[in-house]
Amino acid sequence: MTKILGIETSCDETAIAIYDEQKGIIAHQLYSQIALHGEYGGVVPELASRDHVRKIIPLVDAAFKQAGMSHEDLDAIAYTQGPGLIGALLVGATTGQSLAFAWKLPSIGIHHLEGHLLAPMLEERKPTYPFLALLVSGGHTMLVDVKELGDYDIIGESIDDAAGEAFDKTAKIMGLDYPGGPILAKLAEKGTNETLRFPRPMTDRPGLDFSFSGLKTFAANKITASDGSEQSKADIAKAFQDAVVDTLAIKCKRAIQQTCRKSLVVAGGVSANLALRQKLAELMKSFNGEVFYPRHEYCTDNGAMIAYAGYCHFKQQEGKKKTRQSGSHWLESYSIKVHPRWPMSEAF
Ligand code: KG4
Ligand code: ZN
Repeated sequence: MTKILGIETSCDETAIAIYDEQKGIIAHQLYSQIALHGEYGGVVPELASRDHVRKIIPLVDAAFKQAGMSHEDLDAIAYTQGPGLIGALLVGATTGQSLAFAWKLPSIGIHHLEGHLLAPMLEERKPTYPFLALLVSGGHTMLVDVKELGDYDIIGESIDDAAGEAFDKTAKIMGLDYPGGPILAKLAEKGTNETLRFPRPMTDRPGLDFSFSGLKTFAANKITASDGSEQSKADIAKAFQDAVVDTLAIKCKRAIQQTCRKSLVVAGGVSANLALRQKLAELMKSFNGEVFYPRHEYCTDNGAMIAYAGYCHFKQQEGKKKTRQSGSHWLESYSIKVHPRWPMSEAF
């Protein structure tokens, strides 16, 4: 049975997992650098790289221990090749390529967003191709028409801040702790003011692109004008969250109408947001369709999604080898190359 080691180090999580073709994820190790970056209010790239170096090998060891296996049982190593912080990516890529070289295994460079896209496939209730995917993370907001593995059509994306970035920046303006997204979402649960309303950017014109950068300025103005009480803060948090969630839902509705897909996959860190989940469940119900999410720990950055994406490509490549009798270069090259900026349209 095929077993793939997955390595994720694109930002502030050092994450290692092992995917087993028969049993699914058999090891899942993650070290979050949140505490390290907390005092700076955001990720410090150099500190992130150094910490990945410290943690990565112990986590690989821990993954083998958890799975009760050794590297001799592995079939390939998958690592995040981009996009992300260059130094952080280099730690994962160097480790992945070196281990693959030493252990005489093929290595597979994975696009981080493809990892997020495929993460719902790790659940028992999972979508089948084709499906529409809403990718909402700290760095990206995208609507992707997923026709099959490796065939991705980006039909909408953010022209400025990503949804997660908008949550984080607004939280910072509101004086909330880092990372702000989930904290702002928690605060929004206490909001009661139904009359405070933020704009729904770019919904008054056709198209599937997003723009969230104006919302943080709107929030800043509301905060300045408020009485500064906890209740006012919660009301502003709720109004902000409602605007992001509504905007995402409006664009998803258009995309479903355009593509006629019956399944919607929601992935990336913001897919953990409960208000968004509720709204999109209602939306897909109205289309007699279904919505799919990764479990909570696979919503934000993790190694499981990289190990699984690696497995999918390994299998696809194996199939090609059988039919075409030709070796693949990308599986057998050990050069170390990362792509800090890597548009999905260039990768597939
Ligand atoms: O996918 P991810 O872990 O990292 C990137 O690849 O960017 O996403 C992290 C983002 C952060 O912006 C974080 O604030 C946001 O996801 N996030 C949330 C929630 N949980 C995480 N945003 C809103 N509500 C949440 N519950
Ligand atoms: Zn991510």
